[in-house]
Amino acid sequence: VNVEKITRACLQDVSPYLPGKPVAEVQRELGLEKVIKLSSNENFLGPSPKALACLKQGIDQVHIYPEGASPLLRRALAEQSGVAEGNVLIGNGSDEITRLACETLLSPEDEVVCSEYAFIRFKQQSLLMGARVVEVPMRDWVHDLQAIAKAVTPRTKMVFVASPNNPTGTYNTAAEVAGLLEQLPSETILLLDEAYYHYAAPLSDYPESVPSLLKKHRNLFVMRTFSKAYGLAGLRVGYGIGDPELVSWLDRIRMPFNVNLPGQEAALEAVKDHAFIEASVSQTSRNREWLRAELTRLGLHGPATASNFLFVKSPLPGRELFRKLLALGVIVRPLDEYGLPEHIRISVGSTSDNKTLVAALEKVLPAGVSEKAQK
Ligand SMILES: Cc1ncc(COP(=O)(O)O)c(C=O)c1O
Repeated sequence: VNVEKITRACLQDVSPYLPGKPVAEVQRELGLEKVIKLSSNENFLGPSPKALACLKQGIDQVHIYPEGASPLLRRALAEQSGVAEGNVLIGNGSDEITRLACETLLSPEDEVVCSEYAFIRFKQQSLLMGARVVEVPMRDWVHDLQAIAKAVTPRTKMVFVASPNNPTGTYNTAAEVAGLLEQLPSETILLLDEAYYHYAAPLSDYPESVPSLLKKHRNLFVMRTFSKAYGLAGLRVGYGIGDPELVSWLDRIRMPFNVNLPGQEAALEAVKDHAFIEASVSQTSRNREWLRAELTRLGLHGPATASNFLFVKSPLPGRELFRKLLALGVIVRPLDEYGLPEHIRISVGSTSDNKTLVAALEKVLPAGVSEKAQK
């Protein structure tokens, strides 16, 4: 059988997502005992202790199907966000929410607009539906929302904005996001991905998308996740908040039981654990600024980020630096798949992991790079 012949034509353009290399794989392949992973923007503090305690307690119930639409979590998130339950949809990670939005809205005759270095899943998931992806250049690694607004045509079904964005870590201000919403036609959905919301929310010019902007704009759809500040990436829980009618369309095609039982329960506890979120945000920002200063000293420069990772230009080709660090047991993220072969992305780690990374960089960087950076 010629499998390629029987697959959907648009899949020719779809490449698989390349996740950060797992620790166990590197340990196995390189025979290293100590490996640190700074490649998937996870929370170095681990999960919320409250979520963890509830997981341990509830684990003997996993022979039971979970509730299909995660109703308790839905209610808790609606209350916390100042919206109605009907505005909220829970997904198997926010990645599933992107998928549901693309499957609900996109056909091959449609276009989507995003930045050229926007989170790559937007492009991959749109191509999966055969839609045309229009990419707009960034301005100093920030989404140029004015240019994005100009790229919208009558065929544009969705505009994707991740703020803060992965891999650049930059965010868009309240004025910029409001400006874009003012210009978008009512039938073009703005999918605003706030996966790193908690890290950016303390900034005075970060938008209050929910509930403020949502009340004014029915075409705004916001996504958030439990994978980052809540420290629950392995459980796969994320959510979308938007117009109830749009939510109900996405919900039609959601898989039954899309979020597993431990995931629903742990996320419900995590929502209440405000102290953990505060600790995550403050410790991440402290460690990030230390790491940023050290990277600058070593000649690795990049924009200020409002997230739990740094995006820097590498003095060596990114993949070469990745390989050299890997040999020393430090996993970072090369960005070739984004068309950024000279850059790398580094997740903020614990104090000790960050020191290990800096020591490894000092070993592998060509002599003289950091001296030049000092001048
Ligand atoms: C901008 C952005 N959006 C969404 C996701 C996916 O998150 P989730 O784990 O909720 O699927 C990530 C993960 O790295 C991300 O960086």
